[in-house]
Amino acid sequence: YLIDKGNHRHFMEKEIHEQPEAISHALGHYVDFLEHAVRPVAGSIDFAKVPSLAISACGTAYLAGLVGKYWFERYARLPVEIDVASEFRYREIPLNPESAALFISQSGETADTLASLRYCKEHGLKIGAVVNTRESSIARESDAVFPILAGPEIGVASTKAFTCQLTVLAALAIGAGKARGTLTAADEKALVRHLAEMPRVMAGVLNTIQPSIEQLARDLSKCKDVLYLGRGTSYPLAMEGALKLKEISYIHAEGYAAGELKHGPIALIDENMPVIVIAPHDRFFEKTVSNMQEVAARGGRIIFITDAKGAAASKLETMATIVLPDVDEVIAPMIYSLPIQLLAYHTAVFMGTDVDQPRNLAKSVTVE
Ligand code: G6P
Repeated sequence: YLIDKGNHRHFMEKEIHEQPEAISHALGHYVDFLEHAVRPVAGSIDFAKVPSLAISACGTAYLAGLVGKYWFERYARLPVEIDVASEFRYREIPLNPESAALFISQSGETADTLASLRYCKEHGLKIGAVVNTRESSIARESDAVFPILAGPEIGVASTKAFTCQLTVLAALAIGAGKARGTLTAADEKALVRHLAEMPRVMAGVLNTIQPSIEQLARDLSKCKDVLYLGRGTSYPLAMEGALKLKEISYIHAEGYAAGELKHGPIALIDENMPVIVIAPHDRFFEKTVSNMQEVAARGGRIIFITDAKGAAASKLETMATIVLPDVDEVIAPMIYSLPIQLLAYHTAVFMGTDVDQPRNLAKSVTVE
């Protein structure tokens, strides 16, 4: 990895486009493509023996952890306690010393995440670090280090580190499912085959969605507020979409669980606030579409991010529909990260903000 922008205007743009390659590196470390199996990771946590898992992190890394919770619970039937590190460290969470804890951090130096790690260590938990920097404090103080192998990330807004964190968490959750007997060898094989498709699918998406995203970004750059909705693993992704947009374009954005629409944000719906709905054609699709209908019935404008099946199944009129390839549920969060990153990026470019160094933000927060 060269630390220059290459042919790109910003590091963020370059890092978005590096994702197929970065994910290939991460996959190569965790997955055996010949055997279609996850590799046993050295110094690993024995997921078969732990009664539960704690996860803590900040910012984008926390949202990767939230996707990870869905995976550990679904594939490994492992209950996950998760919180942002600034709350986790002070909540006085009763922790089981037989459990394990995962700390996710690109830099490996975030002060609150490190403090949460130390809290878990004091309570006797086995500690795992999902980090981009193996020489970092968080890596050094952990029992097991799970590198994300994303290469240096310079843009303050995290992109390739997020999708590599997701990739590692998916591999760990599948490995945990295998160890706990909640996934069969056939399940593992199928899931690994889907993971292996990611670099190719991502490259295809990056090559094709740019024009439609740029057009949409022009409209978004005129908005004051944007709402993102998603269900299941698309819910953390909705929050990540909102976080990316507010970080670099300074447009106010909120990410909500689609089912919570009627418990608050529906009051805000009008023609001035676009609603970005992240809805692959998965087992939640019909429910999310019914939330979209509630938005449409109140004159809300919808930006629909879905796949070919989803686009065909929904009869709703939208402001725009971004159609991604039909992919398995396990890789949808990584694939759907691309349009939300590009949308935030191009909106910020239209607004003329300092994309790589947004105001008031730091790449690594080493103070509380
Ligand atoms: C800062 C960065 C975010 C990042 C968060 C956690 O707020 O601006 O992009 O997600 O810290 O950083 P870490 O290095 O622990 O992943």
